[in-house]
Amino acid sequence: MTDMLVNLQSPLLDNLQETDDFIIRPVLPPERHIVLGWVREHFAENWVSECEVACSTVPTNCFIAINGNELLGFACIDTTFRNFFGPTGVKEEARGKGIGYRLLVHSLNEMKNKGYAYAIIGDAGPVEFYQKKVGAVPIDNPPALKAIPYLK
Ligand SMILES: CC(C)(COP(=O)(O)OP(=O)(O)OC[C@H]1O[C@@H](n2cnc3c(N)ncnc32)[C@H](O)[C@@H]1OP(=O)(O)O)[C@@H](O)C(=O)NCCC(=O)NCCS
Repeated sequence: MTDMLVNLQSPLLDNLQETDDFIIRPVLPPERHIVLGWVREHFAENWVSECEVACSTVPTNCFIAINGNELLGFACIDTTFRNFFGPTGVKEEARGKGIGYRLLVHSLNEMKNKGYAYAIIGDAGPVEFYQKKVGAVPIDNPPALKAIPYLK
């Protein structure tokens, strides 16, 4: 695993096509328990912890992709460290439909609007996904979080 750097001025963040299949918006505080339960069900407990942090600001730093009442995916920014993107995830049955990509571009544009020049993808799992879709490059150091012996 590696941290990755994304240039937020990249034109790759500009050309998002419209879709009617789902919308992306920040989590609203009254639905936070639903989102945290969903992340627990589909992903891992440490991601729930990170998501709690992202859901504790107003507006929240956690974005969800939804179709009506169905939650399809989520993405967080400024969570374990400022300037970090992640965690993010799309439920298994909904993968391969562009949801993860749109959550990523939406989140990175939010970071650009906050004034960051670059974003860091923390401990990136699917490195090729980030390289291909937003031009991310691996940082030639161990991931920042790996340098800290945190509780698991
Ligand atoms: C990674 C993840 C969020 C991608 O979401 P998704 O909705 O399936 O991805 P998309 O449909 O938007 O994919 C867009 C493109 O990226 C590619 N891609 C998706 N997942 C990929 C992966 N794991 N590795 C390489 N490429 C990938 C797709 O093939 C597609 O390519 P195309 O535009 O050329 O057709 C999703 O697979 C997931 O939830 N994985 C488990 C959790 C995880 O690993 N999160 C990342 C932690 S850093």
